[in-house]
Amino acid sequence: MTTGFQHLHSFLAYIVLAGIIFSFISALIGALSGKEFTEKDRKFGLIGMILAHIQLLVGIGVYFLSPLGLSNLSGETMGDSMSRLYALEHPLINIIAIALITIGYSRAKKLTESKSRFRSIYMFYGIAFVMILSRIPWDAWLN
Ligand code: HEM
Ligand code: HEM
Repeated sequence: MTTGFQHLHSFLAYIVLAGIIFSFISALIGALSGKEFTEKDRKFGLIGMILAHIQLLVGIGVYFLSPLGLSNLSGETMGDSMSRLYALEHPLINIIAIALITIGYSRAKKLTESKSRFRSIYMFYGIAFVMILSRIPWDAWLN
């Protein structure tokens, strides 16, 4: 089961990152073109958000199952940058990033001015995207 969760989390990472970029670019184009924010634009933002939520759920599962997650969180392992990344930095930063995505999306739903609604999505998703990239275990993922 642990291996299944690890593979799912690793595979979903591609889809989530693609989904966030898609939502980001479509909101940016919307803002720059000055068009009205429609139901279609809300759904384009929703794509990135739902994928992020699914990855959050799977990530929490991996965190409890994997030997690199919670079970490796201790004072001793904090001195090792790779252990700290898996047990602390990657989970923490990604939870914050996904919270930002959720805030950006719900603000876009509540705001009334089209440009602000697009901006809420591209700003929050953009910041979240950079945060997520900053804490990916690249060596493990792409090898
Ligand atoms: C640990 C897991 C999760 C947490 C903590 C979480 C948290 C949240 C929160 C706080 C909201 C409210 C956003 C708002 O203000 O509208 C929300 C909405 C939503 N979440 Fe999640 N979520 C989780 C997992 C999931 C999963 C697994 C899915 C999809 C399969 C999902 C899909 C959605 C959808 C569709 C919405 C509503 C979006 C809308 O308002 O249009 N979430 N979630
Ligand atoms: C958008 C959000 C996220 C992305 C894109 C992401 C991506 C990744 C990637 C690419 C890996 C390396 C996979 C590999 O070795 O092939 C990984 C590992 C891991 N992630 Fe995430 N992650 C996200 C969120 C989270 C969250 C929220 C948690 C926990 C709460 C989490 C916990 C873990 C753990 C524990 C590992 C190590 C698993 C292992 O190899 O045993 N991730 N993640």
